[in-house]
Parts: sequence; structure tokens; C-alpha cells
Amino acid sequence: MKKSICELLSFVLLFVMAGCGNIAAEGGHESVSEQTEVQAEQSIDHNKVSAETESRELSGSVPEQEQETNMEQKTLVAYFSATGTTEPLAEYAAEILDADIYEIVPEVPYTEADLAYYTNGRADQEQNDPSARPAIAGNVENMEEYDTIILGYPIWHGQAPRIISTFLESYDFSGKTIIPFCTSHSSGIGSSADNLHGLCSDSVKWLEGRRFEAGTAKETMGNWLENVIVK
Ligand SMILES: Cc1cc2nc3c(=O)[nH]c(=O)nc-3n(C[C@H](O)[C@H](O)[C@H](O)COP(=O)(O)O)c2cc1C
Repeated sequence: MKKSICELLSFVLLFVMAGCGNIAAEGGHESVSEQTEVQAEQSIDHNKVSAETESRELSGSVPEQEQETNMEQKTLVAYFSATGTTEPLAEYAAEILDADIYEIVPEVPYTEADLAYYTNGRADQEQNDPSARPAIAGNVENMEEYDTIILGYPIWHGQAPRIISTFLESYDFSGKTIIPFCTSHSSGIGSSADNLHGLCSDSVKWLEGRRFEAGTAKETMGNWLENVIVK
């Protein structure tokens, strides 16, 4: 009987010890898995940081504000207007695009006699001479800042006045976009803009130009700009 009680007690003791062992094992296991989770979290955080660092390194670490400034497009409206017809259209363009404006002013102003066409006056003579380069008074000091130039001029004998050639040869327009427009009595823009391409670097992007009649409304200019720039 004593032996059976002893055997029973030993059995109970063994059972209890096995149970404790299990708990210890489970406790140990739990603690290992908790540790693994913490390590995993730390590792994710670390990866996140290194991914962020990597992406900053790839993007050249340029702060967002600076990137926005670099991406900002700056437009200049440059125009020549001998008798004031082209000028208001250039002003409309500058207002609509919130652009800077520059008037191409001849060093020697054109007199009425100079502009009387088919009289072999000054303007006629210049247009008959492809190498004529009437001097411009003043200049654009910060041309390198502009990405896009809207270029306005009157049609003189089917072409842009030679002073436009002077203007185009005075600056490096490489990589810039030029958008020409003109006014005239009745002629279209014709080949006047195409004939200016050769005066600039091949890397200039010329967009299609348009002719406007005298007294064109601001809205018409706005519609054209929207079309030509968005297109
Ligand atoms: C020398 C000269 C030549 C011109 N040749 C033409 C021409 O070939 N076709 C035309 O329709 N208008 C011609 N015109 C008229 C102008 O293109 C038109 O009046 C223009 O709108 C004037 O612009 P502005 O006032 O801005 O100078 C000519 C004007 C001048 C002074």
C-alpha cells in the first residue's frame, strides 16, 4: 500500500514537473518570438531609413522647395512694333501668361518716311537686304533665365523685320522654346517665322506661329496661347 502511494506521488510529481517545464519552454519561446518581432520591426525601420536615404541620394538630396523653383518655367514676351499694332497683343500675352515683357527698340527710330513701303525707303531697303541687322537699343540682361520666348513682330514684305534677326542673333536661345506671332495689313505669317529658324541654334524648339489683325481682342490672344502652349 505504501509502495502504491509512493508510486502515485512520484507520478503526480513527474506530471507537475513536466507541466512546469512546458510553461518554461513556452515562456522561453514567447520571449524569443517577442524578441524576433522587435528585431523585425527594428529591421523594417532601418530599411525604411536606408530606403529614404537612398531615395534622397538618388534624387540628389534636392529639397522640395528648390525642386519646385527649378521646375518653374519663365516666359518672356519680346516684340517689335513700329506703328503700335503689335504692341497691345504683346501686352495681352504678357498679362495672360504673367510673363516679363521686352520691347525691341531700334537704336535709330524709324521715321514715317522710313516706314512708307514701296518707296525704297529705309524699311524697304532693309527688307531687300538679308544681311541687314538694324541695331537694337538696350538688351535683355537675364535671357538665360527664360525657357520660353513669345516673339511678336509686324510683317514687312512678307517677312519679319530685319531687327528681329538682330534680336535672335544677339542671344543664345539653345534649348529654349520660341513662339512667334505677327500682325499685318493682310498677309499671313507665311514663311516669316520659318525663315528665322536658321538664325538660332538647332536645339531651339519653334512652335507654330500665328498672324493677328489690328485690334485683335485679348481673349483671342488667350485662346491661341492656350492652344499653342498646351498642344
Ligand atoms: C515696310 C513695311 C512693309 C509691310 N509689308 C506688309 C506686307 O507684306 N503684308 C502686309 O499685310 N502688311 C505689310 N505691312 C503692314 C504691317 O505689317 C502692318 O501694318 C502691321 O500690323 C504693323 O505692325 P506695327 O504697328 O506693330 O509695326 C508693311 C508695313 C511696312 C512698314
